[in-house]
Amino acid sequence: MKRREFLGSFALATAGIALVSRSGFATQAGAAKAAPIPMTVYKSPSCGCCKEWVTHAQKNGFAPKVVDMQDLTQVKKDAGVPGELESCHTVLVGSYVVEGHVPADLVHKMLKEKPAIVGLAVAGMVVGSPGMEQGNQKQPYEVTAWTKAGKTSVYARR
Ligand code: CU
Ligand code: CU
Repeated sequence: MKRREFLGSFALATAGIALVSRSGFATQAGAAKAAPIPMTVYKSPSCGCCKEWVTHAQKNGFAPKVVDMQDLTQVKKDAGVPGELESCHTVLVGSYVVEGHVPADLVHKMLKEKPAIVGLAVAGMVVGSPGMEQGNQKQPYEVTAWTKAGKTSVYARR
């Protein structure tokens, strides 16, 4: 009886050690892959391409929180999106604004390099941009950066 109790507690202790080392390993493995970056996406509830862009962001390291609104005029105004750069959805991420179908890798680049801009935009709705895929069709487009003073520049060409 005594011997069995001893063996029992030994087995429990071993199981405990196994659990500790397992969770330790899981934490290490998790740390290697960066946690998704939170962002808020303001979009119209009926916008299909906006939903597609949200999926694109989710697949590429972001954790989008979606806010559906019928009228985005005020959101775009508050975010300081220049009229000529307006698209469908408006995103707030870190201290930056992302307007429309901007590729996620460029959002990551901006967050990493922290340029002195308000944000990035793909004006309008470009076929072939993330969330605007239509088969193999691809329209070349510019990703535009703008500053607080309203100065625009080409951030990338896709
Ligand atoms: Cu769109
Ligand atoms: Cu959209």
